Amino acid sequence: MTNDFDAIPRERLPELLRRMPKAELHLHIEGSLEPELIFALSARNRVALAYPSVEALRAAYAFTDLQSFLDIYYAGASVLLKPQDFEDMAMAYFAKAAAENVRHAELFFDPQTHTDRGVPFGTVIDGLTRAVQRARDELGVSAALIMCFLRHLSEEAAFATLEQALPYRDRIVGVGLDSGERGNPPEKFARVFARCRELGLHLVAHAGEEGPPAYIAAALDVLKVERIDHGVRCVEDPALVQRLVREQVPLTVCPLSNVKLCVFGTLAQHNLKALLDAGLKATVNSDDPAYFGGYVNQNYLETFEAVPALTARDAYVLARNSFEASFAGEADKRRWIAELDAVFAG
Ligand code: ADE
Ligand code: ZN
Repeated sequence: MTNDFDAIPRERLPELLRRMPKAELHLHIEGSLEPELIFALSARNRVALAYPSVEALRAAYAFTDLQSFLDIYYAGASVLLKPQDFEDMAMAYFAKAAAENVRHAELFFDPQTHTDRGVPFGTVIDGLTRAVQRARDELGVSAALIMCFLRHLSEEAAFATLEQALPYRDRIVGVGLDSGERGNPPEKFARVFARCRELGLHLVAHAGEEGPPAYIAAALDVLKVERIDHGVRCVEDPALVQRLVREQVPLTVCPLSNVKLCVFGTLAQHNLKALLDAGLKATVNSDDPAYFGGYVNQNYLETFEAVPALTARDAYVLARNSFEASFAGEADKRRWIAELDAVFAG
C-alpha cells in the first residue's frame, strides 16, 4: 500500500469511515436486540416484561458498570424462545451490518442465557445458523458464530454447554468467554478451553475490560486465546503491552461500550489512539450496539470525532486489522483488503 494518507483531509474521514469495508469481531448478537424487537417478541411469545413501554426500557439503559448492564441484557434476552426469534434478531443485525459495509462478522452468542431458561441449544443454533446463511445469500455478508461461556457460572456448566454444542460443531468457528469479569479469572476455565482447543475451535476471551492486566496474560498463557476482547487495560502493564505488540495479539476494542460501562469517562479519554501508536493490533467493534448507542460505524465516527489525533492512516489500519484478525479464509481476507486499498486510493 503506497497510499499518501497524510494527503487525506480530516473532512473526508466520516465518509471514508462509513464507506470502508470492515469486519466486526466483537458483537454479542443478544446485544443487538433493539427495544422495539424486544417488545415485538414479548407480544409474539407472550413473555411479560418488567417495563411498560419501549421508551421506559430505553430509559433504563443508564449503566454504572458491566454488571448493571448485564442484568438488563439478560432480562432483554428472555423474549427469545423459538428458532425464528433468533433468526429475526440476527437478520436485523445483518441488515445494519451490510448497510455499514461490514463484509464479515463474527457473532458471539450466549447459549447458557437461553438453555438455563429451558430453550434447547438446537433452537438457538438453528435460528442463528439460518440467519448466517441468509446473510451470505441475501446480503453478501460473510458471518461465523462464536459460542461464549458465561464466566459467572461454573466450569462444569461450561463443559455441559460444550457437550450440547458438539452435534453442531461444524456450525461454530470458535469459543469465547464473557459476562462479569471481576472475580472470574480465566484460570477458572482452563480445562474447558483446553478441550475446545483439542476440538480445533478458535479461542478468544474477554479480558482487561474491567478486570486487571493479569487477566489478559492469563487468557493468553492459560486459555491460549488468539484474540483478546477489549484488552484496553493492558496499558497498565508496559511489559504486557510489549508482549502484545511483539506477538501482534489482536484486541477487539469497543469504544462506545467502554464509555457506557464507565471504563472511560468520555470518548475523548479513550485510549484507542495510544493503543495504535504503541503498535498494538487494535480493531473497532460495537459489543452490544442496541444498548450502547450505536453500531460499528457509529463507534468509528464518534471516536474519530472525539479524538482529533486519529488519522486517515489509523482508519485504514483499524479496518485492515479487522480483516487480518478475523477467522475468515486467506482468499477472502485478501479480497476485502484489496477493496479497502481501493477505497483509500480513490
Ligand atoms: N456480554 C455482553 N456484553 C458483554 C461485555 N461487554 N462484557 C462482558 N460480557 C458481555
Ligand atoms: Zn463483549
